[in-house]
Amino acid sequence: MSRRTSLHPKKGEKEQGPFYRLFLTQLREIYDAEKQLIKALPKMAEAATEPELSKAFETHLKETKDQKTRLEKIFAELKEAAEGETCEAMEGLIHEGERVIEEVDSSSVKDAALIAVAQKVEHYEIASYGTLRTFASYLEYPTIHKWLQTSLNEEGEANKKLSKLAEGTLFGEGINKSAVNE
Ligand SMILES: [Fe+2]
Ligand SMILES: [Fe+2]
Repeated sequence: MSRRTSLHPKKGEKEQGPFYRLFLTQLREIYDAEKQLIKALPKMAEAATEPELSKAFETHLKETKDQKTRLEKIFAELKEAAEGETCEAMEGLIHEGERVIEEVDSSSVKDAALIAVAQKVEHYEIASYGTLRTFASYLEYPTIHKWLQTSLNEEGEANKKLSKLAEGTLFGEGINKSAVNE
C-alpha cells in the first residue's frame, strides 16, 4: 500500500529541506510506476502479435526489474524506506494499454497501438529520470546521479527500439506499414 509523501518532513523522517522532499516524492512515484510496469509488460508481450515486438517488451521487462532494484539501492543510499507513492499518470497509461488489448482486433493495428502506448510510457519515464538525475546532481549525490542516468539511458534506448519497430529500418518494413495495409 502506498501513501502520499508530504513535502514536509514527518516525525521520524530525515529532516531535510523541501527540495530534498520533492526529490524523494518523485523517486517514490517512479518506483511505483516501475512496479506497475512489471505487472503490465508481460500482458503487453503476450498481446503483441509481431514476435520482435513481443521480444522487445520481454527485454524491457528485465530492464524494468533492474530499474526497480536500482531505485531500492537509491533509497538505501538515502537511508529512506523503499516505498512507492501511487503514480496516477502510469495508472492512466496502463489503463490505455488494457483497452488496446481488449478492443483492437486487427493484429498489426493492435501492435501499432501497443507501441503508441509503450512510447507514451517511455516518454513519461524519460522525463521522470531526466528530472531526478538533474535533482540528484543539485543535491550533490553523484553516485545516485550515475544510477539514475543508467536508467534514463535504458528508457531512451527502449523508446528508440520501439520507433524502429514501428517505422522499420533500411532492412525491413515496420509495423505501421503492415497496419496501413491491413
Ligand atoms: Fe522503467
Ligand atoms: Fe521503460
